Amino acid sequence: INIAIFASGTGTNFSALLDKIQSSELNINVVCLVCDHPDALVVQRAKDANIPVWAHEMKEFENKHDYETAIAQYLTSLKVDLLVLAGYMKIVSDVLLTAYPGKIINIHPAMLPKFPGRHGIEDAFAAGVSSTGVTVHYVDSGVDSGPIIAQQAVEILPSDDIDTLATRIHDVEHVLYFDSLCKVIERDFNR
Ligand code: GRF
Repeated sequence: INIAIFASGTGTNFSALLDKIQSSELNINVVCLVCDHPDALVVQRAKDANIPVWAHEMKEFENKHDYETAIAQYLTSLKVDLLVLAGYMKIVSDVLLTAYPGKIINIHPAMLPKFPGRHGIEDAFAAGVSSTGVTVHYVDSGVDSGPIIAQQAVEILPSDDIDTLATRIHDVEHVLYFDSLCKVIERDFNR
């Protein structure tokens, strides 16, 4: 299975996935990183790991349709089967959803449908709830709204600040995403 990882920023999920995939016996190839911020740390992580990178800002293109068309052409050239969004901060739209129906997954740092959007960790913390979590889900045209693949709760402790909570959430993400990826590949690709 050829996967493309999409990310915009730091890339800890990118690195965790890559490490686990490369040290597994599974027939998964990370064939590229797609990034909308050429200066992002994740780009350097990919280069260090010899993973091909497509890194372009959307403003280099006329509109989102052209931007996604360029990505789709790149993915087709690499025979990509599955898109794995790991901190990709753009909303995926028609071109990619049509090219990869049911073949795009995302990770979100909250228990969806609670706290969707860009600030899942901060929003849960500010709401004063006693527990939040991590969700892996299929991507549809909404924001963090597609069918859920896996979830894991993370307790919010009285002693937590946003940083300690974020660290525990990221630790869960780094395990849950790989496990969910294996589940998707087994179920949807019969591997
Ligand atoms: C993660 O919390 C992920 O759930 C969210 O964006 C963050 C990316 O972190 N969608 P990183 O770039 O993988 O470190």
